[in-house]
Amino acid sequence: MSTVGSIIEGGSRKPTTLASLAGMAQRGEAFACLTCYDAATARWLEQAGVHLLLVGDTAAEVVLGLPRTIEMPFEVLLALTAGVKRGAPSTVVMGDMPFMTYQASPDAAIENAGRFLVEAKADIVKLEADASFAPLVRRMASAGIPVCAHVGSKPQHVALTSGYRAQGRTRADADRVLADAQALEEAGAAMLLVEAVPSEVADEVVSRAAVPGIGIGAGTACHGQVVVLHDVMGLLEKTPGLAQPVANLGPAIREAAMQWVRRVAERDFGGKTFTMREPEA
Ligand code: KIV
Repeated sequence: MSTVGSIIEGGSRKPTTLASLAGMAQRGEAFACLTCYDAATARWLEQAGVHLLLVGDTAAEVVLGLPRTIEMPFEVLLALTAGVKRGAPSTVVMGDMPFMTYQASPDAAIENAGRFLVEAKADIVKLEADASFAPLVRRMASAGIPVCAHVGSKPQHVALTSGYRAQGRTRADADRVLADAQALEEAGAAMLLVEAVPSEVADEVVSRAAVPGIGIGAGTACHGQVVVLHDVMGLLEKTPGLAQPVANLGPAIREAAMQWVRRVAERDFGGKTFTMREPEA
């Protein structure tokens, strides 16, 4: 069993909180984040020492098989978030606000974010935002809702941008990403998440920010790194190149399922059996 910082691999570690993650960021210690969508997996990820679990709207694609994250039903994501927190009670759990649960009206946004905290027991909510969302983030923060502002590439804008696009690749665009991050932090965001920007832009975002910054496809400068669980565990047939997979579980599941198919065919599946009770006298 080896140790990584305060983590005991394969064992337990101190509970993570928003404050402990901010402390790690201040000390320059990296923290590991993964998406997660169910209690059983959350338990394993907590045991592995993952610091933050994001119940992302990527559930639309990887759990529900929908073509776009904007189709994620809110009630389903709320239920998945509650399951993840039950599986990993000692890990920071972030609920991802689905498309149209925070854009249409600030009152609805606050109510929906509140449901993530109260019903699903999420520790923080994430929303995709530019500087125009600063007033909403301010209201949420003053209502006591910890918010992670997701800047850079924003998958919920996929209809507008005709696909996933890296951001901040010209100086002017990089300045816009920086201005978004700064406005949202000033409004009270407790964390920033920077997606698909050049590493020097992510570096500028985190070096200017006083709150932890999580990166995805944004180089190594961010305090935290997140990736979609299914991508990094090799559970999809096609994996986007945002992180190198650490496992190839898809084929392993297929192989295990083939064994089950064989055992059933051979009527050799073992396990518990039941015997007839003695007749009552
Ligand atoms: O929904 C999600 O999984 C995300 C990550 C890709 C950052 O927002």
